[in-house]
Formats: sequence, C-alpha cells, structure tokens
Amino acid sequence: MARKFFVGGNFKMNGTKESIKAIIKGLNEAQLDPNVEVVIAPPALYLHLAQSELKKPGVEVSAQNVFDKPNGAFTGEISVAQLKDSGINWTILGHSERRTLFGETDEVVASKTKSAIDGGLSVIWCCGESLQERESGNTVAVVERQLAALAAKLSGNDWSKIVIAYEPIWAIGTGKVATVQQAQEVHEAIRKWLRANVSDAVADQTRILYGGSVNGKNCKDLAKEKDIDGFLVGGASLKPEFIDIINSNL
Ligand code: G3P
Repeated sequence: MARKFFVGGNFKMNGTKESIKAIIKGLNEAQLDPNVEVVIAPPALYLHLAQSELKKPGVEVSAQNVFDKPNGAFTGEISVAQLKDSGINWTILGHSERRTLFGETDEVVASKTKSAIDGGLSVIWCCGESLQERESGNTVAVVERQLAALAAKLSGNDWSKIVIAYEPIWAIGTGKVATVQQAQEVHEAIRKWLRANVSDAVADQTRILYGGSVNGKNCKDLAKEKDIDGFLVGGASLKPEFIDIINSNL
C-alpha cells in the first residue's frame, strides 16, 4: 500500500490570533494536492481558534505536546483527554526542542507517545541527532536508540498511529538543510530498523518525514526520495510557501 504524503506545520511558539487566522485563510483558499495529508500545529492557546477557522478538507489541527498523566496536579500541562475533548486528534511529541530545552528523555517521550495513542491521538514522533553526534558518526546510533525506547512502550496496532519525523537538530531553524543524500540515508536506516525490529508491514506503512529548514525550493528534490514521505516544517509553515511545500509533488 502506497504511503500517503504527509506535511506538518509546526508553528512552535509563534503567532497571534490575527496571524494564525491569516495562515489558515491562505490554506482554506489554496489549491492543495488532494493526495497529501496536512496537519498544522499552532500554540495550544490557539488550537480552538485554528479549528474554528479551518475549512479545508484533508487538513487537521495538531497539538505540539501533551502530558502522559490522565489529569491532576500538573500545573501548566494539557492531557490527552483534554485534547480529545477539544476535537484534537494529533500531537507532535519528542521534538528536539522538548528534548534539549525541557529535558524530555527518550523514555519520557515514549511514555507520552503511548499515553497519546492509548487515548486516541495520532502522533508525529520526532527524532534526530545533534551536530556533534553527526560529526562523530553517531547519527544512526542515536536515532536507533530513540526508536528502541519508543518500541519498548508500543504494542499491537500502536505503530499505525505514528508518523515519524527525522529532524537533524543542526538543520532546525538554521537554514542549513540536510542534503537529499543525508536525509535519504537516515530515512532508509529508520525504515530498515523498523523492518528488523518491528515488522515488514510497519516498515512499509510508516510515513517518515524530514524536518529541518525545509522551504519552497528544497522540498521538491527531497520529496523525490523513496523513503521521504513528507515534511515537518517550522519557519516556512508560517509563510505562504507552506502551500508550495504541501504541493511538493505537483
Ligand atoms: O518541527 C519542525 C521544525 O523543527 C523544523 O524547523 O524552521 O527548520 O523548518 P525549521
């Protein structure tokens, strides 16, 4: 079964009511490739606004993070049930900024991912290496370590709820996009790991996105690679070129 191309827009901690409404207006009015699944992830404060403004079939709203406890004394956190109660069916988890700035370990990310899936969410699960790890030749080992921590928590059909985003930390927000070869090599390694450690079906069906300085120019060459099934876009998701990225295959 062919993997449906997937593009996520991670707004991070950016935007206002007006700017987010303008981005969504642009998406509502655009001609989007109907063969592409799209999610946009505004800051949590604007999830309801995004949902009320979004009129485009095939485009959904995603959270950027979620906690792994059902409810209780966890000031500042949002639960899976509260996202579902708000009609949100997606969340990003394990973004490198959560891992590096907020100390989320492989195990915390895995626990959050399992809780999200058990609670009915689909997850864009992020992985990737630092520049130091790449320069020391440890890229695949780092990503495999992150995958192993995730796989240890998953069971049954959980993988069908996961889209993997490979985001080399050194390419995030830097304008220094990975080369097509660099990206394809890691995507191929991820798919190989899934085949060896989970199953052929999961390896064949799991979408693996590339993230890290994707823009309207570099997306087309990246999209041609056999193991690149889409993108997780940061800065460019706030700009009109996000539509070009969604339409990479047209
Ligand atoms: O989650 C996507 C993000 O980390 C990539 O950011 O600005 O390099 O596209 P950017």
